[in-house]
Parts: sequence; structure tokens; C-alpha cells
Amino acid sequence: MHDHRIIHTERLVLDDPRPEDLEAFYALRTDPRAPRLYPGRPIETLDQSRELLARVIEENADGRARNRMIRSRRDGSFVGSIGYWRIDPDRKLAEIGYKLVVDHWGQGLMSEALLAFLADADRARPELDSEGWVDAWNVASIRLLLRGGYRPDAARNPDEPEVLRYFRPAPGSGRA
Ligand SMILES: CC(C)(COP(=O)(O)OP(=O)(O)OC[C@H]1O[C@@H](n2cnc3c(N)ncnc32)[C@H](O)[C@@H]1OP(=O)(O)O)[C@@H](O)C(=O)NCCC(=O)NCCS
Repeated sequence: MHDHRIIHTERLVLDDPRPEDLEAFYALRTDPRAPRLYPGRPIETLDQSRELLARVIEENADGRARNRMIRSRRDGSFVGSIGYWRIDPDRKLAEIGYKLVVDHWGQGLMSEALLAFLADADRARPELDSEGWVDAWNVASIRLLLRGGYRPDAARNPDEPEVLRYFRPAPGSGRA
């Protein structure tokens, strides 16, 4: 089910996560300069990152997720991650998520990665709608979602009613 297509953009390469990414993956997820990823929850440990990375690799392999690592095209260094996760085949719905290493923020890199990721996902999984959940203060992420074709809707998670939902219909659905 998993396809191992590698995506090239002008400045980036998007490819499969691998166990050797652990150190960079952990650093990305625990960088104190980034807004807290899990408000109210303790910061992730290295073991938790290792487990998560293993799960991502496993779920990519069986189609429950479609995650890609983002690397510099120039030198292969780790720049961030992007992907569909929580793919629900019955509802034909995926959740988009992305994170960029703080040193690379504000250079248009995630815009470049997101558009390339979505174009590739639209070809491979044209049946999937997708949703993004974002804090109202996260202006860069909201602008990214808008640029990717997501639109705000009124749905809310009762556990986190302050988090906004953005929705992007499947390309073949006629609802775009
Ligand atoms: C959100 C994030 C991925 C943005 O990545 P990035 O590469 O810096 O984004 P880009 O440079 O491509 O900019 C995307 C848009 O946001 C705008 N933007 C970038 N930084 C901004 C800032 N600090 N304030 C306001 N707007 C900003 C850009 O101008 C651009 O808008 P445009 O499309 O209208 O021109 C990055 O900040 C990040 O990893 N944050 C932590 C994780 C996170 O928040 N993930 C999303 C959870 S929903």
C-alpha cells in the first residue's frame, strides 16, 4: 500500500522517515524555541520520540499515515516533517500536520513543502478529504492552510474548543 515516491522541490526533498532520523526528530519535537506542541502535557522524552517514529514508519507502511521527512536538497540535512496521519478510510478523511526546525522558519519552506506534499497526496490518495487543527494565534500555520486550499469551518473538538478546524475537500470530490 505504501509508495516510496520521493518528492523534489526547488530547495527540498520529501522522503520516508527512517530510524536514523531519531535524533533530529526528537530535537524538532522538543525545541524550547517552538510553541509548545502539547499544551498542558509534559515535554516528550527520547523514548517517546523513538516510539512515535517507529509508529510513523509502521503506519506509513500500511497506509494509515502518509508522513514525509523534509530535507535540504543542498546537503540532505533534516529540516522538518509533514504528513497525513490518522487516515480514516471509512470517512475518507486524513489529518494534516507539519513542523519545521525553528532555524528555517520564515523562508517559505513549509509553503514549498505543503504544496508539493498535497499535489503528491492528491495523485496517490485522491479520495481523501483532509483537515487541519490550528490554534487561532498560529498565523503562519493558518496562512499555510489557506494557501494549501483549506478553508475554516465551524467544527470543534469538545476537548479543545479553542482550536480551529480547517478543511480541504478531496480533489476529485467536486466540492473544491
Ligand atoms: C507553522 C510553520 C510550519 C510555518 O513554516 P514556515 O516555513 O515558516 O512558513 P512559510 O515561510 O512558508 O510561511 C507561510 C505563511 O505564513 C506567513 N508567516 C510566516 N511566519 C509568520 C509569522 N511569524 N507571523 C505571521 N505570518 C507568518 C508567511 O508570510 C506565509 O504567508 P503567505 O502565504 O500569505 O505569504 C512553522 O512556524 C512551524 O513549524 N511551527 C511550529 C509547528 C506548528 O505550528 N505546526 C502547525 C500546527 S497546526
